[in-house]
Amino acid sequence: MSDSAFAYHVSPYRYIARYKNGVWEDGFLSDDPSIVLNESACVLQYAQNVFEGLKARRTADGKIIVFRPDRNASRMTESCMRMAMPVYPEDLFLKAVDDVVKANADVIPPYGDGSSFYLRPFMIGTDPVLGVKPASEYEFRIFGSPVGRYFSSMIKLRICDLDRVAPHGTGHVKAGLNYAMSLYAITEAHALGYDENLYLDAATRTYIEETGGANIFFITKDNKLVTPDSGTILPSITRDSLLRVAADYLGLETEERPIALSEIADFTECGLCGTAAVISPVGSIDDHGTVLSFFRNAPEESSVTHMLREVLTEIQQGDRPAPKGWIREVCPD
Ligand SMILES: Cc1ncc(COP(=O)(O)O)c(C=O)c1O
Repeated sequence: MSDSAFAYHVSPYRYIARYKNGVWEDGFLSDDPSIVLNESACVLQYAQNVFEGLKARRTADGKIIVFRPDRNASRMTESCMRMAMPVYPEDLFLKAVDDVVKANADVIPPYGDGSSFYLRPFMIGTDPVLGVKPASEYEFRIFGSPVGRYFSSMIKLRICDLDRVAPHGTGHVKAGLNYAMSLYAITEAHALGYDENLYLDAATRTYIEETGGANIFFITKDNKLVTPDSGTILPSITRDSLLRVAADYLGLETEERPIALSEIADFTECGLCGTAAVISPVGSIDDHGTVLSFFRNAPEESSVTHMLREVLTEIQQGDRPAPKGWIREVCPD
């Protein structure tokens, strides 16, 4: 596995459970990565889908651990409720994670090369609908893929003129439609040489929200970690963990509050956080030609962002004691 690729690589087994007549049938593992759907399946016509993302890693002593999967289970519950989908029971979600990890143990990358096994739980509405309404049959699946890094160097962001979510919309849940909304903008950003778009709040276009695939944080001159408080961004599990690491492991002050675009020049460091992004330093934000640079006064290696990344990744990798409940060990049968 190359250290520089976040891409789909088919793995041997995935978990499948189907919902029919108002109940979840027993789930099972399958070696077939394909899905056959009716042409009018709700997911195809009306985008009724939700998903999650989490990672399994090998530890130095050969165990396989998963980082905070209970949080993904509960976020998927929230997503399903918002998308009028049946909730997949959280205990079964966790068991399915274990089953997929165990069944694919042979393709989980070794300890220490920066790669991991990304798990993608998702749910789709499968039966045909033509009038706009939720499906009555669903499929829940988890597949996995060995992955490397998402970003490889200092990130360049631009302030995006398009919105990916609406006030009172679906920004706080992980629904595929939010990502569909970002595809045009990310294609344009890449073509212009940026790594990602930074979205503003759609209601006033004055506050920082997040990027298309990660939350954002800033570090102040006096080493405080500041991150946006907003009801229209995805509540990142990495960000939640980062706030805890900053306060409890590094003794930093933390603050969740609305962050105005007009104040970001005051910050000294900026980073993205997410399961795929891990913690990635942001080198610059381009606001329509006004470019704000971060890590101006000292190299990234001596920054607070760097320290935060070191501690969090050591915890995620099993190299440092984690807060209670953060690490789920998956034992082979
Ligand atoms: C839009 C968006 N925001 C934030 C995140 C980070 O969330 P998490 O840390 O739970 O992976 C992700 C990735 O899952 C995302 O897609």
